[in-house]
This record gives sequence, C-alpha cells and structure tokens, in this order.
Amino acid sequence: MSEYDVIIVGSGAAGLTAAIALADHCKVLVLAKGELTGGSTAWAQGGIAAVLDAGDTFENHIEDTMVAGAGLNRRETVEFVVENAPASIERLVEMGVPFNKDAEALHLTREGGHSHRRIVHVDDATGWAVQAALLKTAEAHPNITLLPGQACVDLITGRHEERYSGSGRVWGVYALDEKSGTVHAHVGRATILASGGAGRVYQFSTAPRGATGDGIAMAWRAGCRVSNMEMMQFHPTCLFNLDVKNFLITEAVRGEGGILKHPETGHRYMPDYDARAELAPRDVVARANDDQIKRSGLDYVHLDISHLDPDFVAGHFPNIYEKLLTLGIDMTKQPIPVVPAQHYTCGGILIDLAGRTDLPGLYAAGECTESGLHGANRLASNSLLECFVFGEATAKDIIARWDQLEPPPAIRPWDESRVTDSDEEVIIKQNWTEIRRFMWNYVGIVRTTKRLERAQHRINMMTHEVEDYYGHFRVTTDLIELRNLLQCAELIVKSALHRKESRGLHYTLDYPEMLPQAVDTVLVP
Ligand code: FAD
Ligand code: SIN
Repeated sequence: MSEYDVIIVGSGAAGLTAAIALADHCKVLVLAKGELTGGSTAWAQGGIAAVLDAGDTFENHIEDTMVAGAGLNRRETVEFVVENAPASIERLVEMGVPFNKDAEALHLTREGGHSHRRIVHVDDATGWAVQAALLKTAEAHPNITLLPGQACVDLITGRHEERYSGSGRVWGVYALDEKSGTVHAHVGRATILASGGAGRVYQFSTAPRGATGDGIAMAWRAGCRVSNMEMMQFHPTCLFNLDVKNFLITEAVRGEGGILKHPETGHRYMPDYDARAELAPRDVVARANDDQIKRSGLDYVHLDISHLDPDFVAGHFPNIYEKLLTLGIDMTKQPIPVVPAQHYTCGGILIDLAGRTDLPGLYAAGECTESGLHGANRLASNSLLECFVFGEATAKDIIARWDQLEPPPAIRPWDESRVTDSDEEVIIKQNWTEIRRFMWNYVGIVRTTKRLERAQHRINMMTHEVEDYYGHFRVTTDLIELRNLLQCAELIVKSALHRKESRGLHYTLDYPEMLPQAVDTVLVP
C-alpha cells in the first residue's frame, strides 16, 4: 500500500493541472494507465477557447456555449469556466506553452459554433504542446510523484476499510501494476478522478485506445450519480482511411475556410442544412455528413481547403499536411476524404463547481465529468479549458478543506485468493469488438427506440458473462477496460432511452422534436 496526501487518476490536462495546483501544499500521486502521454490531451489539435480579443466578450462566449449545448448547460458553470479562461491561458503561457502569435498578441483561430475568433493554439497540435508543458512542470516539482503503467480497478471506499464502515468515504484506488500484474492500494485524504472519456465504446472514435470510461464506471460502482451520458459527441471530420482509422482533421480547417462537398457531384451541401454552413455546431455538421453518406451510399464526404493559398494551408496545419502527404493526399491540391466519428463524452460523473462528487473525499475533473459546461453538445475547444478550470477548482477546494480531510484508515489489501489466470482471453476480444460494433450501429448519430432496446438487450446478456469472467480470473488491463466499457455502454443506452426528445447530440427518429424544457438525465446508482 502507498500513502500520499492526494491520489489523482489521470495525467492529462485535468489531472496534471490539479497536481500542479496542489503540489505546494501537499504530496500528490498521479497514476496513469499506460504512458503518461496516453490520454486525449496529447492528441488535441484545434486549441483552447478563451475571450482574448478586444471585440469579443464573456457574454458572447457564454451564449455560444449555451447555443451549442441546446440549452442543457448550467449557466452558472458556463459563466465560471468562461470567466476563468483568460487566467488559465496565462498560466499555460507561464509554463512555456508556445502558442502561435500574431505580432505580439496570441493568434486566434476559429471553429464551429464560435461567433468570434477565440481559439489559442500551437499550430494544429495544441494538445501535445500543452501535455509537454504540464508534464515538465509536474516532473520538476518534488511533491509530485508520477506513476505510469497503473490501471486503476476500483475506488477504495468505506467498505474496504479493515474495520468496515458503510460511510461511502473514498480513500483512493486499487490499481493494477501493468508490468508486474499485481494490484496495489494507493490511499490519500482526497482522490481526484481525471481519467478522460469513454469514446472507445464506439467502433469509430478519434479518442486514444485507453478512453474506456474507467473513471465514470468506477465512480458509478462506488455510488456516484452520472449525468447526460446519452450526449456522446461525434466529430464531423475524421480522416477516412482503411489503415489509419482515428486521425482527426481539426475543425479549424473549416474555421479557416474549408468546405464540405459531395465527393461525386462536388456540391457544397452544408448551406442546405444550416445557415451557419460549415461553421454550424458539431452535432449539426456531423448529422449532415452522416445524412449525405447514408443517402448516397458513400464511404465518405470531402473536406476541401485546396482553394486557399497552399503556403497558408501547409503553414497553418503543418502536422495534418505532413501526415496526409504520407498517405498520398496533398491537402493544398485535393480534398480530404472524411467521415464522422465519436469524439467526446459530454456526460459523466456529476460534479459541483468545486469538482466535488456525491462521495466524500472524491473529486473529479475533465472529460470524465458532467459539470454543466457542455449541456447537450460541447462547443469546440471548450474541453481543454474545462480541464484547466476544474483541475484548479478541485485543488483549491481540497486545500481549503484540508483540516476536515482526515487521514486514511487501514485498508484491506486486494484479494486474489479466489481467482486464477484466464485461459479464455478470446472472450475479452470478442466482447470488446461486439460492444463497439453494436454501439456504433444502434446508439450512433441517429437513434431509434427499437435500436436502443436491441443494444440494451445485448448489454444485459454480456454483463452476466463479463461479471462472471471478472469474478473468476485475475485482472488485466483489457479485462478492466472491457468491464468499464460495458458499464458505460449501459449508462449511455439507459440515458438515451430515458430522453424522450431530440436535443443536441441525442437525435432520435421516434421523438424528433425538442421539448420546451431542458432537463438533465441523471442516473442514480
Ligand atoms: P485525458 O487527457 O484523456 O487523460 C486521461 C488520463 O487518465 C490518462 O492519463 C489515462 O492514462 C488515465 N486513465 C484512464 N483510465 C485510467 C485507469 N483505469 N487507471 C489509471 N489511469 C487511467 N479539446 C479541446 O478543447 N480542444 C481541442 O483542440 C481538442 N482536440 C481533440 C482532438 C482529439 C483527437 C481528441 C480525441 C480530443 C480532442 N479534444 C479537444 C478533447 C480533449 O482533448 C479532451 O477532452 C481532454 O484532453 C481530456 O483531458 P482529461 O485530462 O480529462 O483526460
Ligand atoms: C478539433 O480540433 O476539431 C477538435 C477541437 C475540439 O475537440 O474541441
């Protein structure tokens, strides 16, 4: 067992921001599955939204966020995040993030749903620069211990205390050391889940392999409410390529003038769907692309920016340009084949403005949460921002409450006495593939009650099988992830069946209208 003051699950933007903000006050352990750079943060392309232009206002950013979120956002959260954005950017600049500049000012790009240019960025690879700066700062702090290769299995709660208590208090996590295959308890006065989204529940996703909703599933099993899990965001423009399956083409390509075209007729179709054309919010553009593909039996649609100056295109999107060249596509001369793919988990663990969950001692920040910021559809580049603002907020609350956060009691070690090594790994692979396929086909961009019920039926059957397997065999990362994917699939489908309207990302042919009142889907364990 290891004991620190605070245990953080996740080394992305949310986890490292919290760690850095805490480290002058206490000792922090940051756990990550796989490598420290394995989360979505390192993959972010477009940038971070913040009101920094003289002609822009907080009110505009708040309004754009609420419009994209189809009114399901909590205004108080939106205001909190938007108003804290400039300070977050300032801190990143101080940490050395080399944001692009226009003369002395930061260069601001534009993305769908934004009424102004307000996205700071580092070329088209913002996330990598942010991840590197956060890691460098965290590594330099003597109070931060970074431990990669740890797949957390479950939260440690009152029921794992040596003297059992039903308090629901969270004391840390049990984590599988991926190298040695042993499970250790890591305990502290407070625990922060910053474990990212659940995108890999879908067959096609821009998210990295580890986005399996572990934190959401762990929090749910421990007794936290989750909210708006039906709001899974699909990005309109993921590269269509038979070998490279999850390469994103940033929304900034459309922000800078890229247009969507029917690949056979060349028709620019977005104005037929929405007056904002290519710069409509993501849910609208993703549905339009999906509609074009299904209507004409296409494999993909075209995203074309080849009408702009080639030096501008290659200079503005150097990483995408280079990557596409290796695949035989010159984006300065020809259109890019794109398809929609799952991109972001808008729902998650319900938190308040301080990042507190329902359970004492447990906080959460970033993509694993439902803070009220995104509502029914996240506005582009508001996600990294949420990580910075809520990473800070959790740290502030923990520091403010330090005297009330008692040290952990004796905790029972992980019990492996009744399990053996698996001799049927094939079950894991089979179930992984099956979940991701039926979620894509039945719980995708356009839904129906019948398809959702079919998905629910399969989830029920698989749950018995996976729980049985989990009860008999030693845990592996694949098994932990499968169990969590299935749990998240269940939460998504349950939430989707509960919502009897179409709003934002949840579009169902059985209830195509939006109800007058916006109500969160809150699931209680
Ligand atoms: P992540 O960065 O995903 O980190 C999760 C961490 O949790 C990882 O360290 C992981 O190892 C760890 N973890 C997970 N499960 C476990 C476990 N069981 N045990 C231990 N550790 C665990 N947003 C923007 O605002 N702007 C953009 O331009 C942008 N572009 C994007 C491009 C792509 C391709 C993708 C996929 C997303 C993009 N997003 C963007 C979204 C944004 O990147 C993410 O929402 C954000 O980075 C999430 O940060 P996070 O800290 O919550 O989680
Ligand atoms: C993108 O660059 O298109 C992704 C931005 C985001 O997810 O916010």
